[in-house]
Amino acid sequence: MTGSLDVRDLTVRYGAVTAVRDVHLEVAAGEAVAVLGPNGAGKTTLLRTISGLLRPAAGSITLSGRDITGRPAYRIARAGFVHAPEGRSMIAPLTVGENLRLGGRGRPRAEVAADIERMVDLFPSLGRRITTKSGLLSGGEQQMVAIARALMARPVVLAIDEPSMGLAPVVVDSVLDALRRVVESGTSLLLAEQNARLALDVADRAYVLLNGEVVRTGRSDELGDELIESYLT
Ligand SMILES: Nc1ncnc2c1ncn2[C@@H]1O[C@H](COP(=O)(O)OP(=O)(O)OP(=O)(O)O)[C@@H](O)[C@H]1O
Ligand SMILES: [Mg+2]
Repeated sequence: MTGSLDVRDLTVRYGAVTAVRDVHLEVAAGEAVAVLGPNGAGKTTLLRTISGLLRPAAGSITLSGRDITGRPAYRIARAGFVHAPEGRSMIAPLTVGENLRLGGRGRPRAEVAADIERMVDLFPSLGRRITTKSGLLSGGEQQMVAIARALMARPVVLAIDEPSMGLAPVVVDSVLDALRRVVESGTSLLLAEQNARLALDVADRAYVLLNGEVVRTGRSDELGDELIESYLT
């Protein structure tokens, strides 16, 4: 199956602290999957490990049928797992256009130009800000630059860490709409969120992490309010 991510028995430690323990997670081609959990649950650690920024103590990670466990981050990004980190990863002194071109680096110019057009279709407010320095944008626009920059690498799986953080609800809605369109266009999504309600709104399925372990998994419509109340309030 192309586009699928398969994480098996993954354990990640910081010295004596085990932050992720025996995690099993799958993302099918074209699927949107959420990783839910409170502060310190291990969501960021999981995404950083899949991205190759941290090495797992145990377990395996397979992307589109290829074993990527322990590979360097740039190789994993090139293989198609692209991660928009927590806290909006655009480069503030660069313009929106420059940030987007950075996301497409290494690819032919004409392709990059065409993809910038696609990003402007996806995030119309960025179209009016192409020559604006990214650091001057609103929080929501900065999050959109971060997502668009990740998409410029044409990921097979787009991973996003806490896209709702610090954003007003109306802005969160427009970010979520954009993520839905990303999934509709065929890119798989792995979304780490504390805000279960909004993540379940976009995701087909979710995994609930607590203290580094998956304590519950299921379809978003099955998980619902009861889950949110029992684990995440
Ligand atoms: N660099 C680090 N060194 C040591 N321990 C760390 C480090 N980063 C994270 N941890 C610990 O690992 C655990 C998981 O942290 P992580 O950041 O993955 O959680 P999270 O689910 O992303 O939380 P949040 O919702 O606050 O972003 C926590 O106990 C945290 O204190
Ligand atoms: Mg985190």
